[in-house]
Amino acid sequence: MERPKILVTGAAGYIGTHTAVELIGAGYGVVIVDDLSNSDESAVDGVRQITGRDVAFIRADCNDMEALARVFEQNEFSGVIHFAASKAVGESVEEPLKYYRNNVGSFVNVLELMKRHGVPNMVFSSSATVYGQPDVLPATEATPRKPATSPYGNTKQVCEDILRDSVAAYPGLNGISLRYFNPIGAHPSALIGELPKGVPNNLVPFITQTAAGIREELSVFGDDYNTEDGTALRDYIDVVDLAKAHVVAVGRMIDGGMKERYEVFNIGTGKPVSVLELVNTFERVNGVKVPYKIVGRRAGDVESVWADTTLANTELGWQAEKTLEETLRTAWNWEKHIRGL
Ligand code: NAD
Ligand code: WQD
Repeated sequence: MERPKILVTGAAGYIGTHTAVELIGAGYGVVIVDDLSNSDESAVDGVRQITGRDVAFIRADCNDMEALARVFEQNEFSGVIHFAASKAVGESVEEPLKYYRNNVGSFVNVLELMKRHGVPNMVFSSSATVYGQPDVLPATEATPRKPATSPYGNTKQVCEDILRDSVAAYPGLNGISLRYFNPIGAHPSALIGELPKGVPNNLVPFITQTAAGIREELSVFGDDYNTEDGTALRDYIDVVDLAKAHVVAVGRMIDGGMKERYEVFNIGTGKPVSVLELVNTFERVNGVKVPYKIVGRRAGDVESVWADTTLANTELGWQAEKTLEETLRTAWNWEKHIRGL
């Protein structure tokens, strides 16, 4: 039997590479489209090495309608997972048009081609950023979205709405938005992981680079929050667990298991972890020091956000499996691998 083929855009990137590996492991055919604007083709080689498959990779920008149309003409897809997007919150404030074009424009292109070619299933990479600072925690899918505090955050809200409206209008289209909390860690093989360009914005890559001696010390942004140790709380989800949620979501769509034709799921652990707790756990499980200093709060940060994952647990039959300890070991192994330590 022909294996269902999934187009995975942006799959030379961090979450996409891990998802491609899990999709292939679950028996799907995978075609990767990525413009390498925030990644390197060696990441696709990592996917090939782990899976032992010659995974198809096409270097193309999802804004390039002609190039993308050729991909749809040459393949019969059962679904699309759309990771392709720019994701630097600060940069999005400086260059909003880049973000609206790249994140919203490319999403519209992909949906347009799905409509044209009768491709029925879209999984969209959304984010917990849509909740802002929720009034009540943990955040459920019914928690009201807050006005976005950055153009990046706004692109996630707009794309969710575009998918919802498109599903309502086009009977052949189904959609799932997965709202990721804070993805961290790497594949246990250490052959794929997060490759931030320049100084990392996110906590865990900054920690691993500090432990590797590339950064002098970590700045902990604020210890005067209304939390037990004063630092902010987040829900850190292992990237392989997150990747598996995509496999389950795609399967639910292909197998006809959806309750509604447009669905939204939180993908997190359900457990809040503070910045200092994360730093201390990293040091303990890896036996390395992470020098840090407390500095002022970072503009735009929320105090606390974590997921209620009941819906994903019950409806998707998915739940996070890795412990924070295991995940932080994979993060350090990946950093050591890329630095040759
Ligand atoms: P990433 O930058 O590692 O991966 C995104 C990939 O998309 C990159 O390989 C990049 O080269 C590619 N890309 C960007 N624009 C493109 C375009 N126009 N055409 C083709 N390829 C393009 O980021 P990631 O962390 O893997 O994130 C994947 C998705 O998940 C993004 O949509 C992101 O917004 C979303 N997300 C990420 C996080 C996070 O913390 N990492 C959290 C929530 C949501
Ligand atoms: C986590 C915590 C920081 C760096 C961002 C995006 C969000 C989503 C995920 C895509 C916070 C603290 C961080 C540092 C620190 N991306 N921190 N020192 O801000 O929760 O979410 O990535 O959708 O949209 O905003 O993640 O990893 O940057 O920060 O103290 O050097 O670590 O203040 O409390 P965040 P993060």
